[in-house]
Amino acid sequence: MASPSKPRSPFGCFVISITLVHFIASITSLGTCQSLVEESSTSDDTNTKAFFIFGDSTVDSGNNNYIDTVPENRANYKPYGQNGYFKEPTGRFSDGRVIVDFIGEYEKLPLVPAFLQPNADYTNGVNFASGGAGVLAETNQGMVIDLPTQLRNFEEVRVSLSEKLGEKKAKELISEAIYFISIGSNDYMGGYLGNPKMQESYNPEQYVGMVIGNLTQAIQVLYEKGARKFGFLSLSPLGCLPALRALNSKSDKGGCFEAASALAQAHNHALSSVLKSLEQILEGFKYSNSNFYDWLQERISNPTNHGFKDGINACCGSGAYGGVFSCGGTKEVEDYELCENVGDYVWWDSFHPTEKIHEQFAKTLWNGPHSSVGPYNLKRLFSNIKVIKARTIADVVDRQETGEQGIFQQ
Ligand SMILES: *[C@@H]1O[C@H](CO)[C@@H](O)[C@H](O)[C@H]1NC(C)=O
Repeated sequence: MASPSKPRSPFGCFVISITLVHFIASITSLGTCQSLVEESSTSDDTNTKAFFIFGDSTVDSGNNNYIDTVPENRANYKPYGQNGYFKEPTGRFSDGRVIVDFIGEYEKLPLVPAFLQPNADYTNGVNFASGGAGVLAETNQGMVIDLPTQLRNFEEVRVSLSEKLGEKKAKELISEAIYFISIGSNDYMGGYLGNPKMQESYNPEQYVGMVIGNLTQAIQVLYEKGARKFGFLSLSPLGCLPALRALNSKSDKGGCFEAASALAQAHNHALSSVLKSLEQILEGFKYSNSNFYDWLQERISNPTNHGFKDGINACCGSGAYGGVFSCGGTKEVEDYELCENVGDYVWWDSFHPTEKIHEQFAKTLWNGPHSSVGPYNLKRLFSNIKVIKARTIADVVDRQETGEQGIFQQ
């Protein structure tokens, strides 16, 4: 006699996966998942580590020095780089280093070269970022290396690594590398708020959807090429950049330009839910994200609590709040003022934070607690993680599932 078949809900699988997501979400918010992560022994750390960087002026290390663009999209002249960490201005939009320089230092990598820098060695990664670049090809078109082009440049590097190291080693390097993406601000500032035609064609929600849609595709392109570990710098309170605050000075008592900040927040929320989904869908996909928006807002509002004196004005610039983008070079407005003590300032120029902000935030991303960076911090991502949090829980649930239904067996 056949044993009676087990009663089975047609939605059993669906219910389980929803529960799983909630389960992970609740664990994540409690911050107790760290104990479920096991790292392999440090003996694996002899592997070559690589750091690939995509994005805009927040992370550009000098690519724009080599393209035909406007002076506003360049930073290879004084007083950029004035703190002397680098002998000459390098093209970084900062008084010194930018966030990815610190992260590279913490991982003890050699300085990651700009892709367009002649004779660059790509073995420990390369920086594809370009000041002014957006996710959308339309953003500052013709004056920047847009994200689709940055991805094509990565493909070129991937091929050259395969030739240099051999297929197997290159594949290993690609899958162990960190892919750091910091982009989107220019899509919302120049690409949307500064572009009446775009605003006629798309409402804010549609536009955010388009940016996030393209960003998601970019992540998938990298994943298909073997990338597994991603780091993201979410968008800052864009309306509080000195340049945007200055635009708003008539309507308010010097408050932030709220429409810009609202776009940044909508983008950040959409990005974090996309990342949560990708973690579920793409096998082996791991990432690090953070709430840069609140983190920076806190320093803008309460600078003295964090070692700053001024969270509003640019150290280098002119006009209200130093919001006129005039910090050296051959920009449209030539005159500018430079503050005496850059260490007091959150903002270096009208659009970009100081090295001190870059460093503080790099530290948070590197080994910050689960409340500020997650699901992984970058230190954990760089180390070899054998069993990952989601998978540990998922495995347990899946095993029960396969035992009953046998449909998840590989
Ligand atoms: C990507 O952006 C283009 C505009 O550049 C848009 O037409 C397209 O729909 C976007 N793709 C996605 C998946 O959102």
